[in-house]
This record gives sequence, C-alpha cells and structure tokens, in this order.
Amino acid sequence: MPETAPVPHILVVDDDAEVRYSLNRVLSSRQYRVQEAPSGEEGVAAVKKQPPDVVLLDNRMTGMTGLETLQHIRAANPKQLVILMTAFGTAQTAIEAMKFGAFDYVVKPFDPPTLLALIETALRTQADIRSAGGVQPVLNSEEHKEGIVGTSAAMQQVFKVIGQVAASDVTVMITGESGTGKELIARSIHRHSHRSARPYVAVNCSAIPENLIESELFGHERGAFTGATAQRLGKFEVCDGGTIFLDEIGDMTPATQTKILRVLQEGEIQRVGSSETLKVNVRVIAATNKDLEALVKDREFREDLYYRLNVVRLRLPPLRERAEDIPQIVDFFIQSLAKGKKTKARKVSPEALAILCRHHWPGNVRELENMIYRSAVIARSDTILPKDLPDEVRGGADPEPAALELLYDELYAQLKTAHPDDMLGAVKAALEARAAAVPATKAKKPEAKKK
Ligand SMILES: Nc1ncnc2c1ncn2[C@@H]1O[C@H](COP(=O)(O)OP(=O)(O)OP(=O)(O)O)[C@@H](O)[C@H]1O
Ligand SMILES: [Mg+2]
Repeated sequence: MPETAPVPHILVVDDDAEVRYSLNRVLSSRQYRVQEAPSGEEGVAAVKKQPPDVVLLDNRMTGMTGLETLQHIRAANPKQLVILMTAFGTAQTAIEAMKFGAFDYVVKPFDPPTLLALIETALRTQADIRSAGGVQPVLNSEEHKEGIVGTSAAMQQVFKVIGQVAASDVTVMITGESGTGKELIARSIHRHSHRSARPYVAVNCSAIPENLIESELFGHERGAFTGATAQRLGKFEVCDGGTIFLDEIGDMTPATQTKILRVLQEGEIQRVGSSETLKVNVRVIAATNKDLEALVKDREFREDLYYRLNVVRLRLPPLRERAEDIPQIVDFFIQSLAKGKKTKARKVSPEALAILCRHHWPGNVRELENMIYRSAVIARSDTILPKDLPDEVRGGADPEPAALELLYDELYAQLKTAHPDDMLGAVKAALEARAAAVPATKAKKPEAKKK
C-alpha cells in the first residue's frame, strides 16, 4: 500500500463485546482504523454517517440480524462492502448474504490470517465491484427453505455463486456427475431471481426424440405436420419471462444445438409451421454431466453454443469430495421421511454413519437419498444400523461392536419395562433382533487369523 493511501476504515458490527474486542485487536495490528458498533441498528447509523471501507458484520445478533442489517446498509449505501460473519454456513444464509450484496461471508470460527486476507481482497477489489455494478438487494419474503444441504467449503462456493448470479440474467452452466444436485441448484437460482414469480421449465434434452424436439421447444401451428391437430406452445414460449433449464445438453443433436443457439443469440423463436418470429425473454440455465470441452474438441458440440452457455460455470462437486456434508444430508433425508410419516427411523447409528461417510457414492446425493429411504424402511428400530445398509455399501464391513452395544442397550431398556406377562415375547424379540444385527458375514468369517 503506498504511504499516502488513507488508512482503511473498518466497522465491526457485533453484539458480543468480546468478539468486537478481539477483532479490533487483530485489525489494529494491520494499522486499520477500527470502529465498533454493538448492534445492527447502530451499525446502519454508523454507515449512514460515514461509510467505512469494509463492514464486518455478525449474523446472529439480538435485535436486527446481520442479514437484515446488511439489507439496510446496502439500501443506504449500495456500494458498501460488507463481509458477513456467520456461525452456521447454511445454504440459506450464504445465498441470501450474497444475494443481498455481501462482498463475502466467513464461517466462524476463522483464524486471523484468513480474515485479514479476506479484508485485503475486499479492499483491493472494491474498484472491480463498482465497475461490475454489484448485486442490488432483492427483497422478498418468500419462504426460505432451500432444501440444499451441506456446509463444506465446496458447497459454500456453490452458494456464493448462486447468490451472485441469481439477480442477473446471465446464462449459467451447471456441471457435475449424475445426482450431484444440478437440477436442485437450477431451481434455487430461479427462486432467487427476479423471475421467481414467472415459470421455471425444465427440459431434458436427451429424453425428447429428435423429430419432436423442435415442436417441444418452440411449439407448432395446427397442421404443421401430420398429427399436429391443434396449435401448441413450446417450452420457450410458455416460459416467457421465466427460466428454462436445459438439462443434459451434452446429448443434444447438432440440429437442436443450432436452434437453441438462435434463441440465445436473437431472443426469438418460430413455431414449427409458422413464418412469424416471436420475441421471448427467457433466462437459460444449462446442465450436463458430460465433458463438454471434449465434445467440442470432437466437434460433437458446437463451439459457439458452448461459449454462449458457458458464461458462468458452476461445478458441483461429487459427494465423495465433500464427505463432511454426508451426516447433515443423511439427517435431512431421515427427518424428511419422518415428517412424511413414511418410516419410523429417526437417526443413524455412528457406525452406520461412518460406513456412509466412507462409501464412494458413484450416484452421489441421489444414491444416498435412495439408500436412506431403503434403510429407513428396513430398520427395525428408530435407528438405522449397519446391518440395515446394503452389502455393497457396507463393503464387507466388519460387524460393528458399538452398534451391537447400542442394540443391547435398547433391548435391555425394552426388557426392563416389559410387563412380566410379555417377558417371554420380549426375550424372543430381543434374540431375533440380535440375530439380525449380527451380519451374516461374521458367521462365514474364517476363525484363524493369518499372521
Ligand atoms: N445438497 C443437497 N441437499 C439435499 N438434497 C440434495 C442435494 N443435492 C441433491 N439433492 C437431492 O438429490 C437428488 C438428485 O438431485 P438432482 O436431480 O438435482 O441431481 P442432478 O445433478 O440433476 O442429477 P442427474 O445428472 O442424474 O440429472 C434430488 O432428490 C435432490 O433433491
Ligand atoms: Mg438432473
């Protein structure tokens, strides 16, 4: 920083005096000028009085929350750089923080170097943000259930991008293996966009036969071809003002690619059998689990279309790369099933969870979802145990002694409370449950250990 540069001014908004104190110490060590505000209200007042270079804003505060404060700050000063500090990196907070125009957010606890690096980036890129126009606050009160679970660093990155791109009409290309949540993310982008009150239409490009796709996408006039007995609107027309999700674009035929390119370039369509061109205003989100670059190289995918679609790239990491999200996702699915009263399982034993976290998950979150459903149905108690998991997931896992212990505890509790008349039945049930809990593999295991 040149010597003549003014000392950066940082405003710390946090209702916890200790946090303010320690942040103040860290920041002062860099010669920043630090100002403190003990509440969101006072933070907003301070920004109105004199906008600092960066606001460090706590999310969970008594009174106005950080997200609310962020909205007030950005309304007062749309160019204000704000970094939100949150204890829980949930999708909702992360997406909203970015959507409401936060520069970034950090998940607590963070170490001083991380925070300082972030502040320096903020100060350095201030100019870039201004020239890009920033993200304007979009206020709405729609329900906040994202249904996207995960707090891993990789997912945080995804949430950030959703928050950043939602407000604009930029074309987003979502890539990722099957079952990683591409469609879920596409919906989330739509829901957070100004188009949310307009239709969201998903088109699976690989599922529509070649001879029907044009009519499917652009509609047709009556009599346009044999069987066209009435006029029909295509997906692009139906979706006017909204978002179209083009799924599996790697499977589009060359002819369809050309037609899609035209809509993207001209913003207009023609119904099959009509000479009239119609203007459509549609935001496109595309997805693929193929290697599009390789398809472009092999000339199977048009390069010009590739560039049109690939304006912002959002790569969804496979589940095995974010195993730390597995416990939360498992819990989310179990609770959703329990809410729907579909199954009686309420939790997963630590041993079963350990097995789930080790699995490779070629089918990603979808595979995990199906497996939890299946296991929750099979489970005989309210806890999913290793024996409830399919063999291919257990991968010949050893019988888990702790799971058995858990079972014993449960059975013991049952026996203790059983009516004397029911004791025999209870003992029988206990023996059966125990037999079921000892995986068959154990019985087959050779007894002698090789040295
Ligand atoms: N992070 C997540 N949190 C909760 N549920 C998720 C998450 N990611 C995916 N899912 C769920 O997993 C299932 C598969 O997701 P989705 O259909 O979006 O995947 P996809 O990437 O489009 O798969 P494909 O390539 O096979 O079409 C859905 O039921 C979705 O709700
Ligand atoms: Mg999909």
